[in-house]
Amino acid sequence: MSYLVLSPLKTPQLNLRNRLVLPPMSDGVANSDGSVSPATLEFYRERVRGAALGLAIVEYSYVAPYSQRGDHMLGVYSDELLPGLTKLAVLLRELNTPSLLQIAHTGALSRYRPGVDPLPVAPSAMVHPFREKTDGVAARELSEAEIWTIVEQFAAAAVRVQTAGFDGVEIHCAHSMLPNQFLSPLLNKRTDKWGGDIVGRSRFLLEIVRSVRAACGAEYPLYVRLGASDFDERGITLQDGIDTALLAVEAGADGIDISGSLTGAQNPNNKAPGYFAELSAPIRRALRAAGHNDIPVILTGGVNKIEEAEQLLRDEAADLIGVGRALHRDPGWARKEIARLN
Ligand SMILES: Cc1cc2nc3c(=O)[nH]c(=O)nc-3n(C[C@H](O)[C@H](O)[C@H](O)COP(=O)(O)O)c2cc1C
Repeated sequence: MSYLVLSPLKTPQLNLRNRLVLPPMSDGVANSDGSVSPATLEFYRERVRGAALGLAIVEYSYVAPYSQRGDHMLGVYSDELLPGLTKLAVLLRELNTPSLLQIAHTGALSRYRPGVDPLPVAPSAMVHPFREKTDGVAARELSEAEIWTIVEQFAAAAVRVQTAGFDGVEIHCAHSMLPNQFLSPLLNKRTDKWGGDIVGRSRFLLEIVRSVRAACGAEYPLYVRLGASDFDERGITLQDGIDTALLAVEAGADGIDISGSLTGAQNPNNKAPGYFAELSAPIRRALRAAGHNDIPVILTGGVNKIEEAEQLLRDEAADLIGVGRALHRDPGWARKEIARLN
């Protein structure tokens, strides 16, 4: 029997041996300056050795000082971090697994220590809902000049990812990270060109895509992790998700990685394997209908068995399947599951 999950995927830039993806997962084990630690290297070595995965996406990494969520988040904000990042890229290459690294700005969710860190920034002044029950710190609204600075910081971070030797870069626009905060009408109340309709709310993401594309060149793989729904009719809707995916591809993205927005990596209404298929399938169809046949769509969420990944591929819910917590619990998950199938 031939399995779709074991079939290779050739994109214009990447040759993936199969359809299984290590999605970005931050264990919070980087050094306190955001540099790669021995524990970071170990996390990836254990999951990637044996070359059973098609693609590994390295955890979210902050693009600018003070844009991290916590003390041990991986960083990509300075050239001084390049030696560690290069070690990680070389490791993944030696283990024969194509890799992307996810670049992020946590915006309203950034770490805040009174008297040490500047106030977190956001599209609009707010206490982010995740913070209401913790420290209650209010983010301040970004000025237009500051928005452009952050766009440039994403591009500079992407160039570091490329210089370090990763095979591509992924922009984190899910899970209420800053680009996703701009995308969500629940958080973005701006009345200037960076807010309002989907063209305004997606502008920040699209400017990042364009500037990363310009900085890294036409051939460098650039994926977007898209929080394609808030699961709230006042928030990001599926139609917003479809429109944003199309706009991102037109701006230069060459892969779309589907996840949630304000609900994080969870679907509040569905816990079944591939619980974001209700987003990824219509987004994939819309991309194909627009002639974007080479754009892989990644679906992650709730997959515990390789047969579940196979079924999602047969259902055309996505081109690649991410497996997070199962690989977090058991670093040998892919090796064992593939052996079981064979
Ligand atoms: C420990 C942990 C850390 C995570 N870190 C990230 C991250 O850095 N970036 C991201 O986009 N998603 C992150 N996620 C979400 C996962 O990529 C994935 O979407 C989620 O776990 C759902 O998939 P699963 O059901 O296969 O675990 C993380 C998840 C876990 C469990």
